[in-house]
Amino acid sequence: MKNIPLKDRIILALDVETPDKAKELVLRTESHLGFYKVGLELFMAGWFETVDWLVDRGHKVMLDLKFFDIPETVKRAVARLNDHQITFATIHGNDAIIRAALETRGTMQLLAVTVLTSFGEEDLRAMGMTQSIEDLVYFRAKRALDLGCDGVVCSGLEAGRLRQSLGDKLMLVAPGIRPGANVMDNADDQTRIVTAGRALAAGADHVVVGRPIAKAADPIAVIEAMQQELAAASR
Ligand code: C5P
Repeated sequence: MKNIPLKDRIILALDVETPDKAKELVLRTESHLGFYKVGLELFMAGWFETVDWLVDRGHKVMLDLKFFDIPETVKRAVARLNDHQITFATIHGNDAIIRAALETRGTMQLLAVTVLTSFGEEDLRAMGMTQSIEDLVYFRAKRALDLGCDGVVCSGLEAGRLRQSLGDKLMLVAPGIRPGANVMDNADDQTRIVTAGRALAAGADHVVVGRPIAKAADPIAVIEAMQQELAAASR
């Protein structure tokens, strides 16, 4: 298991409408957390404002824009992220897209999205695919690793197989996290769900958590409970 401070294990998804709301959420939680995710909604609202603000406050940033385009376009888009001291950036992609992104990623760690955690088996069948999600995630993660990606985004359900088959080097980041004994009770639009502790025990390095913390009446209580699970799982 990598030596990652407990404060950085949870990456809080700042899925809010404005940079002001994002900053409010950071100020409420930064006593316990050091890693935040800026995704499509917030980036559309404020471009790099929150990213740069987070970095100035000493926090790590995952910029989750999941680039997917022809290789040259992805290469040039990734180059535009280089001035912002981002820790993780996400891309989708086949071999050529991943190779192109790696050319310009600078010091950022590049994570390839395997299969979105909102996808279930039936979504693959509807697209005419016969593979299981687990096999597809494994295949994509292996390609990403072979091509030189630093890590992948997968669900906690697949993290065990990836860790066992692909070794320690690959960074595994798992969204689709819900607290409690019945993780499907508050699934929202997620499908492949586990608890934070289970994801880490299976081999994930970080968990990405959004609504369970951001929409909680007491976000700090949820964070503390998750961090207890994470601490127990990393022993
Ligand atoms: O609110 P919730 O905890 O479901 O949020 C999960 C976050 O992780 C969202 O910001 C979503 O965009 C992101 N994500 C995901 N599945 C992926 C990659 C990113 O849910 N495969």
